[in-house]
Amino acid sequence: MKKLIPFSKLLFLIIALVLNSCSSSPEMKLSEAVLFPKPVSLIETNSSFQLTDQTKILVSNDSKVLFKAGNYLASLLNPATGFNLKTEIGSEKEVTNNIHLKISNLDTKFGDEGYKLRIDEDKISLEANSVEGIIRGIQTIRQVLPNEIEASNKIEQSWYMATGEIQDYPDYKYRGAMLDVARHFFSVDDVKRYIDLLAAYKLNVLHLHLSDDQGWRIEIKSWPNLTAIGGSAEVGGGEGGFYTQEQYKDIVEYASDRYITIIPEIDMPGHTNAALASYPELNCDGKATQLYTGIKVGFSTLCTDKEITYKFIDDVIGELAAITPGEYIHIGGDESHVTEMEDYIYFINRAQKIVLAHNKKVIGWDEIAHADLEENTVVQFWAKKENALKGIAKNAKVIMSPATKVYLDMKYDSLTKIGLSWAATIELDSAYSWTPETFVEGITKKDILGIESPLWSETIETMDDIEYMTFPRIIGHSEIGWTPAENRNWEDYITRLKKHRERLEIMDINYYNSNLLLE
Ligand code: ACM
Repeated sequence: MKKLIPFSKLLFLIIALVLNSCSSSPEMKLSEAVLFPKPVSLIETNSSFQLTDQTKILVSNDSKVLFKAGNYLASLLNPATGFNLKTEIGSEKEVTNNIHLKISNLDTKFGDEGYKLRIDEDKISLEANSVEGIIRGIQTIRQVLPNEIEASNKIEQSWYMATGEIQDYPDYKYRGAMLDVARHFFSVDDVKRYIDLLAAYKLNVLHLHLSDDQGWRIEIKSWPNLTAIGGSAEVGGGEGGFYTQEQYKDIVEYASDRYITIIPEIDMPGHTNAALASYPELNCDGKATQLYTGIKVGFSTLCTDKEITYKFIDDVIGELAAITPGEYIHIGGDESHVTEMEDYIYFINRAQKIVLAHNKKVIGWDEIAHADLEENTVVQFWAKKENALKGIAKNAKVIMSPATKVYLDMKYDSLTKIGLSWAATIELDSAYSWTPETFVEGITKKDILGIESPLWSETIETMDDIEYMTFPRIIGHSEIGWTPAENRNWEDYITRLKKHRERLEIMDINYYNSNLLLE
């Protein structure tokens, strides 16, 4: 006899089928998400997760920092979606439709910054060995979402993410940018926006060039004229400015919430005219210099054989170290053309000891390799490979900042309206197509701490200028620092970058729209 399906069962089956087809997730390919820096590995599962106003951001235990990371994710997702996503304590097993952030015990290759991101149809899991890795993975979640997620106001649309798994960790542990706030001064809000833009590409250091011939930009309570006088000028005769220690601490905290370390630089013994104009006693002839608003370099020096110079440095470094949680202080050391070499070496040796006495490690531009380097002193290669090699011979690690590749103040081509070109013009292909560990013969991977892209501001006056010179070159630099050389190539990069333009526009970044992006 034929077995009939009871009517009620049939009805149930039909309803289930209809419901299932309504809620079924559109097929999407994770490999089509445009991700910068390119992750180490990606597996796609060809379905999708939908972010809705019911999605929960879950953290497994009541770790304060993890909870804060959840709130950071919510702050990135809420404006464009118009949702009011919140972080809650809970287990991913309790509910579906959640993004679960958790600290796990991943393989050591993931280090502090690596993460595993698993996107399923009904939930997302982001795991890392530390909150730092969670913060990096959050940037990937952002990029897997549609470009419109970067909008600052509500967009009416569905928010799907392709499913699959990404495993990711950085090639280099130091991935930085430098902003020169001395030649032109930039507000706290500008610096915070810069930090946000760097964080989106998983950079982890912002080096602030806080003093130079044209301006002194950090309050030092024991030497108030540094800002009262030295802070009052800038290139071109503008009014300059400086950060109070409270403002600096606010910047440090803002950066730290994004797991970006602030490295402050006090450039010395050259590049010191702003200090020399503020205090006559720092000059060998005892006379204060005039404030300077031009763009020449190499004409100033602290008086290296006066004791007051070292008292000055001790006070400055002491105050700065007290408000800088990061492990490094940068002492500059570049282009001290009017300091005798013997005096320069004596000075750098003493300056390093002062930094160490305040429990910080030293970074200096490559010229400092002429001095005796303390254990853990880092040499920042920018110009002379002989100096970098000399540093390595003295057991120093190197930060790679070759001016011909990563100086963000270099023009893109001869038509670029701002910027300089003394090192090179740097188009997007040149900025991307190099590898730190093969760039200088004799500098190998084990010698390199990472890479850093400096933006000197002689010709940079506004946040729009900063963005124009930085983007999109820094995206390439972020990938050089993060993605192993064997996974990178120019054709693949520029193809992805063309697709990324719309996101840059939604992020309201004043980027350089190179012909290479249009071809
Ligand atoms: C430098 O560009 N003077 C480090």
